[in-house]
Amino acid sequence: STGGSDAAKRRAGEAAAEQVVDGMVVGLGTGSTTAYAIRALGRAVEAGLDIRGIPTSFQSRALAREVGIPLTTLDDATPDVAIDGADQVADGDLVKGGGAAHAREKVVDAAADRFLVVADESKRADRLDHSIPVEVLPAAATTVEAAVRDLGGDPTLRLAERKDGPVVTDNGNLVLDCAFGALDAPGDLATRLSALPGCVEHGLFVGLADELYVGDDEDVTVERY
Ligand code: A5P
Repeated sequence: STGGSDAAKRRAGEAAAEQVVDGMVVGLGTGSTTAYAIRALGRAVEAGLDIRGIPTSFQSRALAREVGIPLTTLDDATPDVAIDGADQVADGDLVKGGGAAHAREKVVDAAADRFLVVADESKRADRLDHSIPVEVLPAAATTVEAAVRDLGGDPTLRLAERKDGPVVTDNGNLVLDCAFGALDAPGDLATRLSALPGCVEHGLFVGLADELYVGDDEDVTVERY
């Protein structure tokens, strides 16, 4: 629910949903922009579209059920397409995890034949400089914090808004929001973060996106990578 206007998010989400055709398995991302795509797919299912969805979070599963999209899992199907949002986009590389859902999102988005990113203009940047969410095993929070500092980052444990204590992910882990400044080589940082013991998954999505649907208040621009 961050970023640009709801109209822009809706345009992007609905344009990506139009790429989905009969028989497809669809990865269902998380966040306010993807929610527009999920709602559009729900309306299409009601009108007869035959698809199955693979949710990436508690939120996207609940919404998909609410709007009547039949669900499956990665154990039983491979997504033809995944539709997911982003917190920042530069050259097709993404920062995700503003909703702490990036671990399952990365698994589903990477498994899809085509990964469509949906965003509004406010998410675009020349270089990624958003803090990087790092999901960590609770027992590794302190060691990963120290390792992130060694890599030049400044980690902050994400705290819950309506609870006294930390955000706990759908997987039972904690999130460190790690400020690194503007990234010259996101792929290098992604590799280093992935190598940290106790790092479950980080929010850098490098080289994964196939298409970017950017909405503004008038239309949608599509970029292909
Ligand atoms: C969830 O953890 C994130 O990766 C979301 O996909 C991202 O925050 C985009 O959300 P919005 O579309 O609400 O900005």
